[in-house]
Amino acid sequence: MLSCRRPSGRPFAARFFPLLPVLLLLLLLLLATAAGSVSGGSGVLYTPVDGVTPLDFRQLRAAVYDPGRQRHWLLQVYHASCGHCIAYSGAFKKLASELWPWRYTLRIGVIDVAKQRNARAMRHFGLSGVPSLLYVAPNCSWASGFSAALPRDTSELPERLLDLMEPFVPQLRPLQPGETADCDFILEEPRPGVLSRGLILEALHVRSLRWRASVDSAPAVRLSRVAADGSSAPAGSASDAASLRRLIGLKQPTRPTPTGDTAPSSPKAPRPPTRADLKSALIRALVSDVALAGPGRPRVWRAARDVARLAAPLLPAAGRLAAAMPESLPAALAGEASAAIWQHLLAESGFPEKPPDNWVACAGSRPYFRGYPCGLWQLFHSLTALRLKTGDAVAQPVAPVMRAFIVNCFSCSHCGRNFARELADLPAEPMPARQELLWLWRLHNRVNHRLAGRPSEDPQHPKVQFPPAALCPRCGDSEDAVVEFLTRWYSAAI
Ligand SMILES: Cc1cc2nc3c(=O)[nH]c(=O)nc-3n(C[C@H](O)[C@H](O)[C@H](O)COP(=O)(O)OP(=O)(O)OC[C@H]3O[C@@H](n4cnc5c(N)ncnc54)[C@H](O)[C@@H]3O)c2cc1C
Ligand SMILES: *[C@@H]1O[C@H](CO)[C@@H](O)[C@H](O)[C@H]1NC(C)=O
Repeated sequence: MLSCRRPSGRPFAARFFPLLPVLLLLLLLLLATAAGSVSGGSGVLYTPVDGVTPLDFRQLRAAVYDPGRQRHWLLQVYHASCGHCIAYSGAFKKLASELWPWRYTLRIGVIDVAKQRNARAMRHFGLSGVPSLLYVAPNCSWASGFSAALPRDTSELPERLLDLMEPFVPQLRPLQPGETADCDFILEEPRPGVLSRGLILEALHVRSLRWRASVDSAPAVRLSRVAADGSSAPAGSASDAASLRRLIGLKQPTRPTPTGDTAPSSPKAPRPPTRADLKSALIRALVSDVALAGPGRPRVWRAARDVARLAAPLLPAAGRLAAAMPESLPAALAGEASAAIWQHLLAESGFPEKPPDNWVACAGSRPYFRGYPCGLWQLFHSLTALRLKTGDAVAQPVAPVMRAFIVNCFSCSHCGRNFARELADLPAEPMPARQELLWLWRLHNRVNHRLAGRPSEDPQHPKVQFPPAALCPRCGDSEDAVVEFLTRWYSAAI
């Protein structure tokens, strides 16, 4: 049995805790709606104001797979602190707003696997990356998960979804030559008829509409009104949904306005890592990312053990965990059981059940900026500084351990793939401590350069080459100065 709980009497507060984010979100939403706008301050990338339904894994079955249902679902599985998911959210909110008129037939749900309680969604759906888009048809069972995986390109999605829904909504099928239809209006449009089919879906419960694939290639939709005797007469033409609605007498939908971001943009000076942030990153890495990646995979197991061993000076629980983990994966760790055994090992070593996630030096101006990925960089930089201070002879190299963790376990799987490409210059032989410290510094600056100006960049913490001259005036022209600066900066907390 998979259990996320420790066996004996947890206090009431602990049982109540999982509800807290939901209550907070509701409260914030209420406050924000009252104020007439919703910013990203609710702690999640998506809120119902975006026209999407945020779902937890344990609600999925009842909400989406309700037997006898008529609804179709578009689900997005994402990770709130993954840069690619943040970058994608703008396009997805626009899509959700565009598809809002279809909401009686198609629902849009989002699942954040950064939340511990949703991590199982990855395994349940058999996903290897985020963001992932899934279509769930009304005849799809909980056990089979989803009916189709969809491309992320939002410009193609409306057409794909219409094709997928067509077998279940007979009105979406084009009229055949000679076929007469008992309806109010007939729309004529070249294939694939996205505009016509979208309107049919939107009007399903108020107007009876059908469409016919026109043979000419004029992009406009031609409209005919069907009389009681079956005869039809031209009723105008238009090439946008708003004009067609007016011709048909449909109400213009009031769409949700996607939540914007009003993050203040005055940059803040970088802060040296705090011990609390390094611990938070380490705990999230082992408690959350390893569980998500599947500790039952030998490569994940080894990477987790090596990180725990290396970080033992920072957190005694990590040392106890490493000592309790045999060199190779125990045979018992297969499938579902691995999650339970992993939870048990962590609890026995003294890890908290949930990562603390209250960031100090890595705090972002919005809850989805910085945090964990920032803490993880700082953790590995600190470990290279610690190794240089301790001496090569005693301390283990950091680079291979970091590589194995990022590539096999990091919950931002795109980051992992990009990172694997950045590693071209990683020497096969272990590097001396000084060289390793500089190697990671250069690599991180390359990543900063690549990510500068992307939507995942916190406006208060722009991606600049580190350290800025204000922090280390001599670093621009002396490698010794860089080594001296990094050792001091990254020894502050470990
Ligand atoms: C291995 C890895 C790969 C990633 N790949 C991607 C990716 O492909 N796409 C994506 O969108 N996001 C990626 N991320 C996330 C991204 O790099 C940032 O971590 C995230 O956007 C948060 O940025 P930040 O402003 O907190 O600064 P971060 O880049 O997280 O840096 C944290 C802190 O380290 C210090 N620092 C900055 N540069 C250096 C340096 N060169 N040497 C030493 N210290 C430095 C600064 O004080 C900075 O605030 C990755 C993260 C990691 C850990
Ligand atoms: C669901 O319906 C689609 C379209 O009719 C069909 O192709 C598919 O096989 C059905 N799946 C199940 C599990 O019944």
